[in-house]
Amino acid sequence: MRTAILISGRGSNMASLIEAARTPGYPATIALVLANRADAAGLKKARAAGVETALIESRQFVSREDFDAALDRRLRESRIDLVCLAGFMRILGADFVRRWGGRMINIHPSLLPDLRGLDTHRRALAEGRREHGCTVHFVTPELDAGEIVAQARVAVLPGDDAETLATRVLAEEHKLYPAALATVAAALASQG
Ligand code: GRF
Repeated sequence: MRTAILISGRGSNMASLIEAARTPGYPATIALVLANRADAAGLKKARAAGVETALIESRQFVSREDFDAALDRRLRESRIDLVCLAGFMRILGADFVRRWGGRMINIHPSLLPDLRGLDTHRRALAEGRREHGCTVHFVTPELDAGEIVAQARVAVLPGDDAETLATRVLAEEHKLYPAALATVAAALASQG
Protein backbone atom coordinates (compact mmCIF):
# COMPACT_ATOMS: atom_id res chain seq x y z
CA MET A 1 0.00 0.00 0.00
CA ARG A 2 1.60 3.24 -1.16
CA THR A 3 1.15 5.55 1.82
CA ALA A 4 1.45 9.33 2.16
CA ILE A 5 2.00 11.02 5.52
CA LEU A 6 0.62 14.54 5.89
CA ILE A 7 2.34 16.78 8.45
CA SER A 8 2.42 20.38 9.65
CA GLY A 9 5.10 20.24 12.34
CA ARG A 10 7.81 18.24 14.04
CA GLY A 11 6.90 14.88 12.55
CA SER A 12 7.75 12.49 15.36
CA ASN A 13 4.84 10.20 14.46
CA MET A 14 5.90 10.44 10.83
CA ALA A 15 9.39 9.28 11.82
CA SER A 16 7.96 6.29 13.68
CA LEU A 17 5.91 5.31 10.62
CA ILE A 18 8.90 5.64 8.29
CA GLU A 19 10.98 3.48 10.58
CA ALA A 20 8.28 0.80 10.98
CA ALA A 21 7.69 0.66 7.24
CA ARG A 22 11.31 -0.45 6.78
CA THR A 23 10.58 -3.69 8.58
CA PRO A 24 10.55 -6.57 6.08
CA GLY A 25 6.99 -7.66 5.36
CA TYR A 26 5.38 -4.44 6.64
CA PRO A 27 2.26 -3.98 4.50
CA ALA A 28 2.76 -0.24 3.73
CA THR A 29 5.47 1.73 1.95
CA ILE A 30 5.92 5.40 2.80
CA ALA A 31 5.91 6.83 -0.71
CA LEU A 32 5.47 10.51 0.15
CA VAL A 33 5.62 12.96 3.05
CA LEU A 34 3.64 16.09 2.32
CA ALA A 35 3.57 19.26 4.44
CA ASN A 36 1.29 22.26 4.25
CA ARG A 37 3.90 24.53 5.90
CA ALA A 38 7.44 25.22 4.72
CA ASP A 39 8.69 25.33 8.32
CA ALA A 40 7.43 21.84 9.21
CA ALA A 41 10.51 20.29 10.83
CA GLY A 42 9.36 16.84 9.73
CA LEU A 43 10.18 17.68 6.10
CA LYS A 44 13.90 17.69 6.85
CA LYS A 45 13.64 14.43 8.79
CA ALA A 46 11.79 12.79 5.91
CA ARG A 47 14.40 13.93 3.38
CA ALA A 48 17.18 12.69 5.64
CA ALA A 49 15.41 9.33 5.75
CA GLY A 50 15.36 9.27 1.95
CA VAL A 51 11.60 9.66 1.59
CA GLU A 52 10.14 11.78 -1.20
CA THR A 53 8.67 15.04 0.12
CA ALA A 54 6.26 17.65 -1.18
CA LEU A 55 5.21 21.06 0.06
CA ILE A 56 1.80 22.49 -0.69
CA GLU A 57 1.54 25.66 1.34
CA SER A 58 -2.03 26.07 2.47
CA ARG A 59 -1.60 29.79 3.15
CA GLN A 60 -1.00 30.37 -0.56
CA PHE A 61 -4.51 29.19 -1.40
CA VAL A 62 -7.49 31.48 -1.20
CA SER A 63 -10.06 28.73 -0.79
CA ARG A 64 -10.09 25.41 1.02
CA GLU A 65 -11.39 23.74 -2.15
CA ASP A 66 -8.37 24.89 -4.16
CA PHE A 67 -5.96 23.63 -1.52
CA ASP A 68 -7.78 20.30 -1.27
CA ALA A 69 -7.74 19.95 -5.07
CA ALA A 70 -3.97 20.57 -5.20
CA LEU A 71 -3.46 18.02 -2.42
CA ASP A 72 -5.62 15.45 -4.17
CA ARG A 73 -3.72 15.95 -7.44
CA ARG A 74 -0.37 15.51 -5.71
CA LEU A 75 -1.49 12.32 -3.95
CA ARG A 76 -2.74 10.88 -7.22
CA GLU A 77 0.50 11.86 -8.96
CA SER A 78 2.35 9.68 -6.43
CA ARG A 79 -0.23 6.89 -6.88
CA ILE A 80 -1.10 6.98 -3.18
CA ASP A 81 -3.45 4.31 -1.81
CA LEU A 82 -3.59 5.34 1.81
CA VAL A 83 -3.13 8.62 3.72
CA CYS A 84 -1.90 9.06 7.32
CA LEU A 85 -2.46 12.41 9.00
CA ALA A 86 0.28 12.94 11.58
CA GLY A 87 0.04 16.32 13.26
CA PHE A 88 -1.58 17.78 10.14
CA MET A 89 -3.15 20.99 11.43
CA ARG A 90 -5.29 21.86 8.47
CA ILE A 91 -8.97 20.93 8.33
CA LEU A 92 -9.79 19.10 5.10
CA GLY A 93 -13.03 19.77 3.25
CA ALA A 94 -15.87 17.24 3.29
CA ASP A 95 -15.51 16.45 -0.44
CA PHE A 96 -11.82 15.64 -0.10
CA VAL A 97 -12.47 13.55 3.01
CA ARG A 98 -15.23 11.58 1.28
CA ARG A 99 -13.02 10.96 -1.76
CA TRP A 100 -10.42 9.40 0.55
CA GLY A 101 -13.01 7.77 2.79
CA GLY A 102 -11.80 4.46 4.25
CA ARG A 103 -8.29 5.26 3.03
CA MET A 104 -7.30 8.07 5.41
CA ILE A 105 -6.44 7.72 9.11
CA ASN A 106 -5.37 10.14 11.83
CA ILE A 107 -3.77 9.96 15.25
CA HIS A 108 -5.39 11.97 18.00
CA PRO A 109 -3.96 12.47 21.51
CA SER A 110 -6.95 11.36 23.58
CA LEU A 111 -9.13 8.34 24.18
CA LEU A 112 -11.83 9.20 21.63
CA PRO A 113 -14.72 9.86 21.75
CA ASP A 114 -13.49 11.82 24.79
CA LEU A 115 -11.63 15.09 24.31
CA ARG A 116 -12.04 15.76 20.63
CA GLY A 117 -10.28 18.87 19.32
CA LEU A 118 -7.18 20.66 20.58
CA ASP A 119 -5.33 20.96 23.88
CA THR A 120 -6.29 17.47 25.03
CA HIS A 121 -3.60 16.99 27.70
CA ARG A 122 -4.44 20.19 29.55
CA ARG A 123 -8.15 19.36 29.35
CA ALA A 124 -7.61 15.80 30.61
CA LEU A 125 -5.87 17.23 33.69
CA ALA A 126 -8.43 20.01 34.20
CA GLU A 127 -11.21 17.43 34.19
CA GLY A 128 -9.37 15.30 36.75
CA ARG A 129 -9.20 12.25 34.50
CA ARG A 130 -7.30 9.23 35.81
CA GLU A 131 -6.77 7.81 32.36
CA HIS A 132 -5.76 9.37 29.06
CA GLY A 133 -4.18 8.12 25.85
CA CYS A 134 -4.29 8.21 22.08
CA THR A 135 -6.47 6.95 19.26
CA VAL A 136 -5.97 6.11 15.59
CA HIS A 137 -9.22 6.57 13.68
CA PHE A 138 -10.53 6.86 10.15
CA VAL A 139 -11.01 10.43 9.01
CA THR A 140 -14.57 11.53 8.34
CA PRO A 141 -15.97 15.01 7.64
CA GLU A 142 -16.82 15.40 11.32
CA LEU A 143 -13.61 16.16 13.25
CA ASP A 144 -12.14 13.32 15.40
CA ALA A 145 -15.34 11.30 15.01
CA GLY A 146 -14.50 8.49 12.54
CA GLU A 147 -14.38 4.78 13.26
CA ILE A 148 -11.68 3.85 15.78
CA VAL A 149 -8.85 1.60 14.57
CA ALA A 150 -6.80 1.33 17.79
CA GLN A 151 -6.22 3.00 21.15
CA ALA A 152 -3.50 3.04 23.78
CA ARG A 153 -4.15 3.99 27.41
CA VAL A 154 -1.90 6.01 29.70
CA ALA A 155 -2.46 6.50 33.44
CA VAL A 156 -2.55 10.09 34.63
CA LEU A 157 -0.05 10.30 37.51
CA PRO A 158 -0.12 12.57 40.55
CA GLY A 159 2.04 15.59 39.75
CA ASP A 160 1.55 15.32 35.99
CA ASP A 161 1.41 18.53 34.03
CA ALA A 162 0.36 18.86 30.41
CA GLU A 163 3.95 18.39 29.28
CA THR A 164 4.79 15.24 31.25
CA LEU A 165 1.48 13.72 30.25
CA ALA A 166 2.00 14.65 26.59
CA THR A 167 5.44 13.02 26.64
CA ARG A 168 4.06 9.69 27.92
CA VAL A 169 1.13 9.77 25.48
CA LEU A 170 3.49 10.55 22.60
CA ALA A 171 5.63 7.52 23.44
CA GLU A 172 2.47 5.41 23.08
CA GLU A 173 1.54 7.17 19.83
CA HIS A 174 4.87 6.12 18.36
CA LYS A 175 3.99 2.45 18.95
CA LEU A 176 0.27 2.67 18.23
CA TYR A 177 0.40 4.43 14.87
CA PRO A 178 2.75 1.96 13.12
CA ALA A 179 0.66 -0.96 14.42
CA ALA A 180 -2.60 0.67 13.31
CA LEU A 181 -1.24 1.54 9.87
CA ALA A 182 -0.17 -2.07 9.43
CA THR A 183 -3.69 -3.25 10.33
CA VAL A 184 -5.39 -0.85 7.91
CA ALA A 185 -2.91 -1.41 5.07
CA ALA A 186 -3.18 -5.19 5.39
CA ALA A 187 -6.98 -4.99 5.37
CA LEU A 188 -7.02 -2.76 2.29
CA ALA A 189 -4.49 -4.96 0.51
CA SER A 190 -6.63 -8.03 1.13
CA GLN A 191 -9.60 -6.24 -0.47
CA GLY A 192 -7.44 -5.79 -3.59
C1 GRF B 1 0.62 14.35 18.11
O1 GRF B 1 0.39 14.52 19.47
C2 GRF B 1 -0.63 13.83 17.43
O2 GRF B 1 -1.39 13.01 18.25
C3 GRF B 1 -1.38 15.10 17.14
O3 GRF B 1 -0.40 16.03 16.79
C4 GRF B 1 0.84 15.68 17.40
C5 GRF B 1 1.84 15.57 16.29
O4 GRF B 1 3.15 15.36 16.75
N1 GRF B 1 -2.36 14.87 16.11
P1 GRF B 1 4.29 14.94 15.73
O5 GRF B 1 4.33 16.03 14.64
O6 GRF B 1 3.92 13.61 15.17
O7 GRF B 1 5.54 14.93 16.53
